[in-house]
Amino acid sequence: MHLFTPFECRDMTARNRVMVSPMCQYSCEDKDGLATDWHLVHLGSRASGGAGIVMTEATAVTPRGRISPQDLGIWSDDHAEALKPITDFIASQGALSGIQLAHAGRKASTVRPSEGGDPIHGKSGWTPVGPTEEPWPHDEPLATERLDSTGIERVKHAFVDAAVRAVEAGFDILEIHAAHGYLLHEFLSPVTNAREDEYGGDFDGRTRLLTEIVTDIRAAVPEGTPVFVRISATDWLADRRSWTVESSARLAGTLRSLGVDLVDVSAGGIHPDQQVPETGPHYQVPYAERVGENEMPVGAVGGITTPEGADEVIRNDRADLAIVGREHLRNPYFALRAAEALGHDVPVPRQYSRGFQ
Ligand code: FNR
Repeated sequence: MHLFTPFECRDMTARNRVMVSPMCQYSCEDKDGLATDWHLVHLGSRASGGAGIVMTEATAVTPRGRISPQDLGIWSDDHAEALKPITDFIASQGALSGIQLAHAGRKASTVRPSEGGDPIHGKSGWTPVGPTEEPWPHDEPLATERLDSTGIERVKHAFVDAAVRAVEAGFDILEIHAAHGYLLHEFLSPVTNAREDEYGGDFDGRTRLLTEIVTDIRAAVPEGTPVFVRISATDWLADRRSWTVESSARLAGTLRSLGVDLVDVSAGGIHPDQQVPETGPHYQVPYAERVGENEMPVGAVGGITTPEGADEVIRNDRADLAIVGREHLRNPYFALRAAEALGHDVPVPRQYSRGFQ
């Protein structure tokens, strides 16, 4: 097994094991979550660049679930229609398309990072929702609405409706975003979930919202469509009761039994006090190895930047996918160049063949 061994998952086969990591583009401008030419060119060029799977950025399942007003969304049929040319183009380049379905929870309603990332609650933004009224820690008090049982039902329906729309829009793979301190992670982690109802408390309570969403999505989309879940393997808060690598390994077993096909293993994001370790090459790969111990296929992400490094992760069975983020911002042709460097003969877009002779 190596980086260019195809990855088979339900009815889908990725031509190699390089996945473009979900990366917010904050580029809808005043388009209210509708995909623009930027998204087509950005995602399309990573598909022509040879990646096996091209995953969209966090795509909001409701308007309140956007991090910023410029986030991509999929809360209506118009949104799905705007994404269709993108999935068509990705397929025409021989890649699989994936969509990351997301709700930003209490981290919603901010200006985009390039403008400082500050909250805009009560100004031009909206009041975010979370497992409790406790807001994301900030100098100014920020109103956050606790989701009641009706609100939880709405969120579940929004995820399922978004998943069905995504399949109609031509996406091959669905990824549920349960990482980085956004809504589903806020329910998983005892740092943010102090609820006393059936969606809080012990491990089963805190994982209930995610497992119900997974179950409902699995039942609503075709059997052949893979479902991935991105998690934060750890909260990086060893000094308090928090979500740990052991919690993640246990969750992976549950997700496997519910028909999840792969856990995309990231880390952190739940609280500003997190103690982030040294983020050198492959810094999160050990988490993927631990989460994958339960026979759960996993994707490793974080600091994978070279063909040899990505290949090593797969060859040594440390993960099933090598997920590459920032290196894809620098080099959309990462996978084609990796094939060249590793000595694999892969098809190059005919228009570009002279560049790869
Ligand atoms: C990200 N990341 C991210 N993660 C995610 O799950 N959904 C998202 O929409 C985003 N958005 C995003 C935007 C940008 C500009 C960056 C750089 C990162 C995190 C990303 O997917 C990845 O996990 C990290 O960047 C670590 O991987 P690399 O970059 O070291 O390969």
